[in-house]
Amino acid sequence: MSQTGPDTSSIESILKEGRVFEPPADFSERVGGSYISSMDEYRKLYERSIKDPEAFWAEVAAQFDWFKPWETVLEWDLPDARWFIGGKTNICHNCVDRQVNNGYGDEAAIIWEGEPMEGGKPEIRRYTYRELQREISRFANVLKAQGVKKGDVVTIYMGMVPELAIAMLACARIGAPHSIIFGGFSSQAIADRVIDADSKTIVTCDGAWRRGKIVPLKDNVDEACNQLERSGNAIKNVIVVKRCKNDIQWTDGRDHWWHELEKNVDDECPCEEMDSEDMLFLLYTSGSTGKPKGIMHTTAGYMIYTAVTARYVFNLVPNQDQVYWCTADIGWVTGHSYIIYGVLPNRVPTLMYEGAPNAPDESRFWSIVERHKVTQFYTAPTAIRAFMKWGREHADKHDLSSLRVLGTVGEPINPEAWMWYHKVIGQEKCPIVDTWWQTETGGHLITPLPGATPTTPGSCTLPFFGIDAAIVNEKGEEVPHGTGGLLAIRKPWPSILRGVYGDRQRFIDTYFSRIEGMYFPGDGAKRDDRGYFWIMGRVDDVINVSGHRLGTMEVESALVSHESVVEAAVVGMPHEIKGTGIAAFVTLEAHAEPSEELMAKLREHVAREIGAIAKPDLIRFTDALPKTRSGKIMRRLLRDIASGTDTNQDVTTLEDLTVMAKLRESDES
Ligand code: WT7
Repeated sequence: MSQTGPDTSSIESILKEGRVFEPPADFSERVGGSYISSMDEYRKLYERSIKDPEAFWAEVAAQFDWFKPWETVLEWDLPDARWFIGGKTNICHNCVDRQVNNGYGDEAAIIWEGEPMEGGKPEIRRYTYRELQREISRFANVLKAQGVKKGDVVTIYMGMVPELAIAMLACARIGAPHSIIFGGFSSQAIADRVIDADSKTIVTCDGAWRRGKIVPLKDNVDEACNQLERSGNAIKNVIVVKRCKNDIQWTDGRDHWWHELEKNVDDECPCEEMDSEDMLFLLYTSGSTGKPKGIMHTTAGYMIYTAVTARYVFNLVPNQDQVYWCTADIGWVTGHSYIIYGVLPNRVPTLMYEGAPNAPDESRFWSIVERHKVTQFYTAPTAIRAFMKWGREHADKHDLSSLRVLGTVGEPINPEAWMWYHKVIGQEKCPIVDTWWQTETGGHLITPLPGATPTTPGSCTLPFFGIDAAIVNEKGEEVPHGTGGLLAIRKPWPSILRGVYGDRQRFIDTYFSRIEGMYFPGDGAKRDDRGYFWIMGRVDDVINVSGHRLGTMEVESALVSHESVVEAAVVGMPHEIKGTGIAAFVTLEAHAEPSEELMAKLREHVAREIGAIAKPDLIRFTDALPKTRSGKIMRRLLRDIASGTDTNQDVTTLEDLTVMAKLRESDES
């Protein structure tokens, strides 16, 4: 394994604990019927799905609407998987129109709650499938009128407003792949992604509400546009949703208000008949080297896989007054798959919340659960750790008895947080589904099924149907249970990434080179004696901050782009809330003086270059970085230093890391 391989010691201690929680006896009754109710049922179906995946997935696909049936279920020519070849469908149709056509047009599709409270009351909007169909069609017509055609990439940089869901579904409707950029990213990040995707249209908002403040989205887009203009990649259209009514700049001819453009369009827009393998969206994610990768997902495989995982993993059942809530931002893959695309086809309303969990106070999420009688709740370990820190009294103030299934995603959950979630939020009645997956996998790959799988805090348990997962060594040989190794998937599944946009070699190198003949997700893991999977973290130079991947390279490049910095090394360090925080070791130009002020400036600089999520939690100035004789930075040593240090103010002291480097040189090189 690489020098930044996972720390197995924490896993050892988790394994020792081994508490087992059976699905509650009344689970099926509580959810209006459990899809999979026993391990026997799971195993039978799993075996069938592995023995004959094509028959299994064809059966699933037949539950969706197709304009033209497929001819071949799967063509697997490593590393390329093509699913449902020859078929024509549309994911927006299957999310929305299908429900209307089947007579469910008046049921709630999206329930949206805004962040600001007036007189103790939030703004709530409800969209039925019929209303959603109309709104999507209108905006699809706006896009067409602006010259957007099938195949054109539309960049979306918005807050969590209903128009974000409408915009993405409108893109899907007309076959224009979307590239959604999380609203916390900087103008630089927008410009990089727009250039990579060769996108000419941006949909944004004037601002976004976040903890009572306005995030100036349009200003960031303007800055990105200026830069794009200078580099010959000018943006043609910027469409702006008026949300916060903040003052913004306006460029005539380029900028348009969403509500103005909508005055001139029709209510109807037919769904484009998309090839199964036509691109649905691009979503950028970090890697260990270079710029973010544009992960490509296509239409049919992604559509059926996200919908069927959402159905089984959250046990979504129509007509049972279920309200499903995933707290992610749509700007991440979790929001793409499990707020919108995987949920709407299941005919259970999906709740979208605009703002922060502590606005106006720390009980906001629980007031939302109570107000909307949320039945399935899906969040991240970093959020759970924040709730724990704020104290259980915020949850205890609210009636959480509507909850049926709890979920987590993004990073391994520490057993303490798992137990808190189970007791305080689930009131010991709700199964917890710890779902392991990635931007590249499109949907859950390893996860409990709530009515069937006994769970153990810290384990994501067993593979979903059709997922042939294993722990292997570098030669691709399966290792015995209890031994750590590389997590690998031996066969393709319908929503596997189809490529890295514009970079075929990187696609092959990153996912299909380390282990011959298999997909390598980049995680280390092990299985226990029941065969349960325990994820041990990334094996590359990627750090998982608050459940989101950041390439250490990206943060280092951002630091080095500051005039005072010569060299920088970034490593992960334990962080109470984020799980992993960012520690940066920085060597300055001769004229630059280490100071608190410079530290603050560097943090701001990184936020400007990438986004606030990448701000180092700790910066240490050093006159040299520890390196091996061959010049490789000794990250392991830096990690030791970073984790042994608290973020107190003693950060400007120069450390003589060269001495340490010399001490360790002999055993590293
Ligand atoms: C990486 C993927 C999938 C949406 C959120 C993050 C880690 C994800 C778990 C989990 C342990 C997890 C992995 C993975 N991860 N879920 N349940 N247990 N680790 O998406 O940014 O694509 O990151 O997050 O390391 O490779 P992403």
